[in-house]
Amino acid sequence: MARLTNIQPAPVTGPAATLIYDDWYPALRTDRLRAGKLVTAMLLDIPLALGRLKNGKIFAMRDSCPHRGIPLSVGWFDGERVTCRYHGWEFEPCGGQCQLIPSLSSHDHLDATRIFASAYPCEERDGYAWVYIPAPGSGKLTQGPQRAVPELAKFGPRYRSAHLTADLPCNVDHGIIGLMDPAHGPFVHQAWWWRSRASIREKTKRFEPIPEGFRMSAHAPSANSAPYKLLGVYGQPVETTIDFTLPNRRTETIRCGDKWFSSLTTVTPVTSSTCRIDVIAAWNVFYRVPFVTPVAKFFGARFVRQDQETMIQQAEGLRHNPSLMLIDDADKPAKWYFALKQARLESQSATPPGAESKHPMDGPVELHWRS
Ligand code: FES
Ligand SMILES: [Fe+2]
Repeated sequence: MARLTNIQPAPVTGPAATLIYDDWYPALRTDRLRAGKLVTAMLLDIPLALGRLKNGKIFAMRDSCPHRGIPLSVGWFDGERVTCRYHGWEFEPCGGQCQLIPSLSSHDHLDATRIFASAYPCEERDGYAWVYIPAPGSGKLTQGPQRAVPELAKFGPRYRSAHLTADLPCNVDHGIIGLMDPAHGPFVHQAWWWRSRASIREKTKRFEPIPEGFRMSAHAPSANSAPYKLLGVYGQPVETTIDFTLPNRRTETIRCGDKWFSSLTTVTPVTSSTCRIDVIAAWNVFYRVPFVTPVAKFFGARFVRQDQETMIQQAEGLRHNPSLMLIDDADKPAKWYFALKQARLESQSATPPGAESKHPMDGPVELHWRS
């Protein structure tokens, strides 16, 4: 797995962000889940124990026994049941139902099956375990998640893919606005193969509202970026579309005739003050050219590492709670993000919850910036 471990996040982190519950978040790569083994992860300040049943299904439980709170991950998992190491209570891991309390005697009337450990909806997509995190205190999920599990768009059966992950020492809001920030490219991602500072030029991009997000409308990609130049070899027009949707997803699709590249980038709150960026990409471009996958991984990793390094430096500054600013037009996507998030939070706390939330954009707009 392309985890960027060579940079350790700063030990001290900055301010917390409000978190969006009742949605899907990627917890970890599923190649780490083997029958009989529990793996821990943290999502939205919730410690999780994930595993894979003998039948192949994956699950995610809160890593805490409902009896006395010891982590379930220090107990046993035989591929079917999770057993707590303190008093041996046994749980069915997908629903969390207690199956056995060894200490109960013939004099007890307690029905163990009425006790539940917290278990979360968990689905495997694109090699990730996606976990649905309900709002704290909302109890056991009586109805399933109302939202679809996110999935990387693919435009044909044959493709190559890659993924990478990096921990960011800042809160999820800073991770996300960094992800959508058009103005940092020439400074953070200076490299011969990408673009140079000297190539900064004025850009006009059209944005349109989409449900719970916004789209940078289909456009010919920046002529001053090398990977896009490379794509141009097919001689057909290249078109790229970038979407952002709540709570944390950026998708990019580049199409050129029957060639395509697709990526899904998420910035996931690990705690309220730290986050993690995950990128999954698939493409059928240069499908037959050997070494494209390792080369793509190398450049992708380098790109994400540049963002990671910058955010580690930023976190150092944010520790002192500076006042910040958002400017027009380059920070407009960040403003939309904050407004969309606010609308989602308000609709979730409304009674009844889930009322249609208001979109901050009235219609398509053009933004201008230099990058
Ligand atoms: S703490 Fe888990 S069984 Fe008692
Ligand atoms: Fe970046």
